[in-house]
Amino acid sequence: MASVQFLDPPITENHYSGPGSGLDQSECVIDIRNLSLVFETNDGSVHALSNIELAINRGEFVSFIGPSGCGKTTLMRVVADLETPTSGTVLVNGMTPKQARIARSYGYVFQAAALFPWRTIEDNIALPLEVMGYSRADRQARVEQNLELVNLSGFGKKYPWQLSGGMQQRASIARALSFDPQMLLMDEPFGALDEIVRDHLNEQLLKLWAATKKTVIFVTHSIPEAVFLSTKIVVMSPRPGRIHEIIDCDLGSERPLEIRETDAFLKIAQRVREGLRLGHMDEV
Ligand SMILES: Nc1ncnc2c1ncn2[C@@H]1O[C@H](COP(=O)(O)OP(=O)(O)OP(=O)(O)O)[C@@H](O)[C@H]1O
Ligand SMILES: [Mg+2]
Repeated sequence: MASVQFLDPPITENHYSGPGSGLDQSECVIDIRNLSLVFETNDGSVHALSNIELAINRGEFVSFIGPSGCGKTTLMRVVADLETPTSGTVLVNGMTPKQARIARSYGYVFQAAALFPWRTIEDNIALPLEVMGYSRADRQARVEQNLELVNLSGFGKKYPWQLSGGMQQRASIARALSFDPQMLLMDEPFGALDEIVRDHLNEQLLKLWAATKKTVIFVTHSIPEAVFLSTKIVVMSPRPGRIHEIIDCDLGSERPLEIRETDAFLKIAQRVREGLRLGHMDEV
């Protein structure tokens, strides 16, 4: 399966509203109210999300954390118009998720890089642009620009299997960014990578976020990763998936890896851990 939603016809209208567009950066780009989602299955109903209330401002980095099955992916898929809520409202950039998808408001990065092995890295990154009808020159320029953003300049002619897992995941981020979406939705993008590579990619992602001012929604199981990256951490609890707590992560924008040893960092990590623990207890 491809990592980016690019199955719609090319857009003709420019919906870009990010940095430099003159729009208010403190504007709410995701507004979720009283959202519930029940999956009807052959074995009965699965109440995946209940009473979700969430507002995300432009340029924020928001992590969803919570136990397996608490609905993190489902919530992200609702924002991306890949699932339809049973009740409640969702606005993405003031539009319905469907309108936002057609307006190409976001790029989606999955856990596995999901690059096509028969295409070079640059052809993988260019794929959404091909589908959207960008000219060859535009495609080339955007591929170069995004390879540079993820520190892969010079690797465009390689095939995915010639790259390490971390490099492949960076290529899939470049693909999600290729059409300059205002938002990046990332579902455990670094979950399968070892600790050192993950640290390195966390640092790079922070730099990329600072450079592009994208709004990022990021799913993770790692408390340190969530605290290191986020401006806001959404702690979720299971059965049915609810938001247990939203924790502000005000560590500033300069975050070297060593920040993880500071009191401020450890204090927030402790709050997240406690939130996860209490959220679990809601269940019993
Ligand atoms: N298409 C579906 N049909 C039926 N049930 C589903 C479907 N997708 C998800 N679920 C159920 O909804 C709940 C939430 O699933 P979801 O994948 O959102 O969890 P998650 O928090 O992302 O978990 P993980 O951390 O393991 O990825 C689970 O109970 C799951 O079994
Ligand atoms: Mg998931």
